[in-house]
Amino acid sequence: MIMRTVMFMGKGGTGKTSAALATGVVASELGHKTLVISGDAAHSIPDALGMEVGSEPTRMAQNFYVMEVDSRHELEKNWGEIRDYMSAFLATKVDEELAAELAQMPGIDELLGVLKLEEESGKWDFVVLDSAPTGQALRFLAVPELMGKLGFNLIKVQKSVMKLLKPMEAMLPFPVPDEGVYEQAESMVNRLKKAGSLMRDASISSIRLMVNPEKLSVLQARRNYTFMSLFGFNVDMVVINRFFPQGAGPYLEKWNAIQSQYASEVETSFYPIPVKRVRFFGTEMVGLDNLREMGKEIYGEQDPTRVFFKGRSFYVERTKEGYLLKVQVPFTTKGDVDLEQDGDDLNVSVKMPVGRYERSIALPSVLSGKVAKSASLKEGYLEVVFSRVLR
Ligand SMILES: Nc1ncnc2c1ncn2[C@@H]1O[C@H](COP(=O)(O)OP(=O)(O)OP(=O)(O)O)[C@@H](O)[C@H]1O
Ligand SMILES: [Mg+2]
Repeated sequence: MIMRTVMFMGKGGTGKTSAALATGVVASELGHKTLVISGDAAHSIPDALGMEVGSEPTRMAQNFYVMEVDSRHELEKNWGEIRDYMSAFLATKVDEELAAELAQMPGIDELLGVLKLEEESGKWDFVVLDSAPTGQALRFLAVPELMGKLGFNLIKVQKSVMKLLKPMEAMLPFPVPDEGVYEQAESMVNRLKKAGSLMRDASISSIRLMVNPEKLSVLQARRNYTFMSLFGFNVDMVVINRFFPQGAGPYLEKWNAIQSQYASEVETSFYPIPVKRVRFFGTEMVGLDNLREMGKEIYGEQDPTRVFFKGRSFYVERTKEGYLLKVQVPFTTKGDVDLEQDGDDLNVSVKMPVGRYERSIALPSVLSGKVAKSASLKEGYLEVVFSRVLR
């Protein structure tokens, strides 16, 4: 069975929930057995559908199912014992309230949607996740790799040592974890490992970036894209949502100009990933009919379960001198490259016979504080050399 997953990612309010549902509606009507998962505590899915949604897959139409992650329950199930132990351990050092606060792992709740997606993935043709976690949460997916086999074995060794210590707990300066804590840790690491490999498989999982044609949302999408590329998640589409119609009077004329400018910025920033445009509808995206219309606007006659793009257009390589940033560009001609570094952004401008190519790149953490020294064009890639040392 072909199985596909799609996650929508973008700044608050850009239209992720609408797009996730729209994608689900179109896919299910093409005959794919589809589940849309919401990890969003704001319960926007039932609002958008105008129907009740449960924490188990709920049927909305033929082939179309929706569920909301019960985050309290899932958090308890996946993380409760570990959190309670951490909190008890920390309480031997700081006061109880602070310990409870510190034991909350930021981002862990955001990850629940991804874990659920992995859990459900075998049962459906197509699973769409609304409210994709931020980069912060996705870092957890790298934990199993960082731990390696040694890490897994350490959990096992610790588990047996702690079992021996348990009877002497009263004499020890720290609480001894129960077996359940280790079991939960092992199971969590295993689940992260499975979710990580599912999400990194470009033929199964795609990220779709949602932007509005405005400054902050484009900025955030660029950052998301940098992060996703570095961690090996495949972004296969960018959707620009809420285009005002052309010719709707002088009031919107200025907006038309602003929006087209951001749209072309998006086209260059994410090249060669396909960019789709969705107009600002005259009504909110509520109900299956509106969602279907939005879906048609995103996908046209295409099947939403397709992989629309596969590949990395952005790399960082370590070299002897420092780092090399390689970015795919839509031309191969030679040209003069100008660089301007502005904090963690790199502005690139290439003068070509036909005009100027300008692009801003959100630099990944590994390059922050490093200095871009030179740049050149090679076989469709812009290569920027970064020095290793701070100046
Ligand atoms: N193209 C559009 N035309 C008209 N209304 C839209 C469009 N896209 C989204 N909306 C409306 O904008 C509001 C926000 O959209 P949505 O809930 O999909 O965004 P979101 O990115 O999921 O937000 P959040 O970050 O809060 O979860 C909703 O009321 C939705 O119906
Ligand atoms: Mg939403």
